[in-house]
Amino acid sequence: MPLSLGMLAAHVPRICHEEKAPDFQKALVEGMRQAAAAIREVQADVIVLMSCHFPATFHHYVNVAPRHKGVLTAVECPDLIANVPYDYPGDPELAGQLVEAGKSAGIPVIGFHDPTYTWDYGTVVPLRYLVPQGDVPVVDLSVCLASSLDESHLWGQQIGKVLRSSSKRAVFVSSGALSHNLVRGPDKMPTLSEQAMDNQFIQYLLTGEYDRAREMLTQYARLAGVESGGRHLAALLGVLDSRYQARFLGYAQSSGSGNAVITFAS
Ligand SMILES: [Fe+2]
Repeated sequence: MPLSLGMLAAHVPRICHEEKAPDFQKALVEGMRQAAAAIREVQADVIVLMSCHFPATFHHYVNVAPRHKGVLTAVECPDLIANVPYDYPGDPELAGQLVEAGKSAGIPVIGFHDPTYTWDYGTVVPLRYLVPQGDVPVVDLSVCLASSLDESHLWGQQIGKVLRSSSKRAVFVSSGALSHNLVRGPDKMPTLSEQAMDNQFIQYLLTGEYDRAREMLTQYARLAGVESGGRHLAALLGVLDSRYQARFLGYAQSSGSGNAVITFAS
């Protein structure tokens, strides 16, 4: 069974509680609802989610825990995200396969399992929309700040190979923003130049020109301050291949960042 679905997901903190989402981010709420419907449609067996808010310094981490249970208060914004419980099954078998695939490609990937580990809000916020009942197993992944975009792309390729060869219906979620030069003021849009770059990058995704998106990403990540240096996007582009068709579901700002919800179905 091939990888069933890829996804770029939004995690802006003000949509954590859907009923409190401001009007200017309603497009993301609606997009995440549609993305959740797409996950239900493919009857996903497992979600593999890479979060920009799990920024590991030297390694790419894979959470191999059999269960993820905790209560999140976000260190960056405890006024917006506090005391949020989560409880999802893990998938140690698939997580272990991801670790092995990364290592065999020469990538410094480490599996870890610790019941005291608490998820970040880049993991919790999207999953509250995508798997609201907590009934689909999750494998959460870090980004790695010592990684080049090429290494993150290679890691994505390894992830894609594992998910395509698995008997499980898998969904890969890249949780992060596009342009991300943050400013004070939650309703502030990215600059016109940043919006233009976001739009061009999205256009390459929608036309299936993933090679061009990868080529653009190198400068775009730097100029637009793309979240996590664009590593979550490089990994997503590594996971995808030409069989996947993008569907745009929404775009909105958060403190000068640009955030999109896009699904990729084969
Ligand atoms: Fe973020």
